[in-house]
Amino acid sequence: MTYQEAIEQIYRSTKKLKEKGKPAAYIPELSQIDPSKFGVHICPLKEPSFGIGDYQTRFSIQSIAKVFSLSLAYKLKGEKIWERVGVEPSGTKFNSLVQLESDNGIPRNPFINAGALVIADILVSGLKNPKAELLEFVKSMSPSDNISYSPVVEASEKSVGYRNVALCNFLKSLGNIENQPEEVLDFYFTLCSLETDCQTLSSLFLPLAYDGIAPHSNEKIIPNSYSKRINAIMQTCGFYDESGEFAFRVGLPGKSGVGGGIAAVHPDKYSIAVWSPGLNTKGNSYKGMKFLEEFTTLTELSIF
Ligand code: DON
Repeated sequence: MTYQEAIEQIYRSTKKLKEKGKPAAYIPELSQIDPSKFGVHICPLKEPSFGIGDYQTRFSIQSIAKVFSLSLAYKLKGEKIWERVGVEPSGTKFNSLVQLESDNGIPRNPFINAGALVIADILVSGLKNPKAELLEFVKSMSPSDNISYSPVVEASEKSVGYRNVALCNFLKSLGNIENQPEEVLDFYFTLCSLETDCQTLSSLFLPLAYDGIAPHSNEKIIPNSYSKRINAIMQTCGFYDESGEFAFRVGLPGKSGVGGGIAAVHPDKYSIAVWSPGLNTKGNSYKGMKFLEEFTTLTELSIF
């Protein structure tokens, strides 16, 4: 069975499932999204790409963008970044404050909001134009440039971003933010507002399936060992307190966002992006997880 045949079959059966998820309600702009949207796109390394459903409709990738900011910060500062953020699953909600105080302001990993704020601070310190340079870096990973920030989503999240404001100020008080919290938060909210479709998103993850190389240009985006480590963190922390469940059911490194997107990679084989806005109680796409579970089951291919 080809990837295309497997995707067509599972897309049809997953689309029919009763929707048990709900679009993110805490960001006003995201709560407006049509929950019936559903798209999938795969970029295999050795077979043609394939998409189905709403794979060319743009959506808010939210926390999936944290993979890009981590990659750029890692490239910029090397192993020093691990002095300021850990690599352990937190077992808590993505926007939790609870562990920070006893952990002396070192977030458990770069994908929970606290860790992503520290990574944002590293980029604000290290880049002249953090927003423009991050976008340029992201675009270098894919032949498509169909990705941009959404000022509407950014403003919407800023208007209710109290918890991230609290997290950033708390981190600052614990000595793990160098810049002014306002500046770091501004960059963070812009990062989370990145919008693209499944077609481009899957291609943006292809370097992580190919030892850090972007196949369209042969450019080494990040060293092999960074790609290996980012995949390891996606595997253990990419789905917050549902990371174990995702590894158990799907068996691929991946990253979710509250816009309902999931990007995942099978090293040396493919990258895949799925979008369905209905989220389960852990903040991950309900149908997206179902789809990927069926996909790795039917193809009998996972990293385990
Ligand atoms: O900071 C937030 O709450 C959002 N901008 C991103 C959260 C997110 O996508 C978590 N994902 N599952």
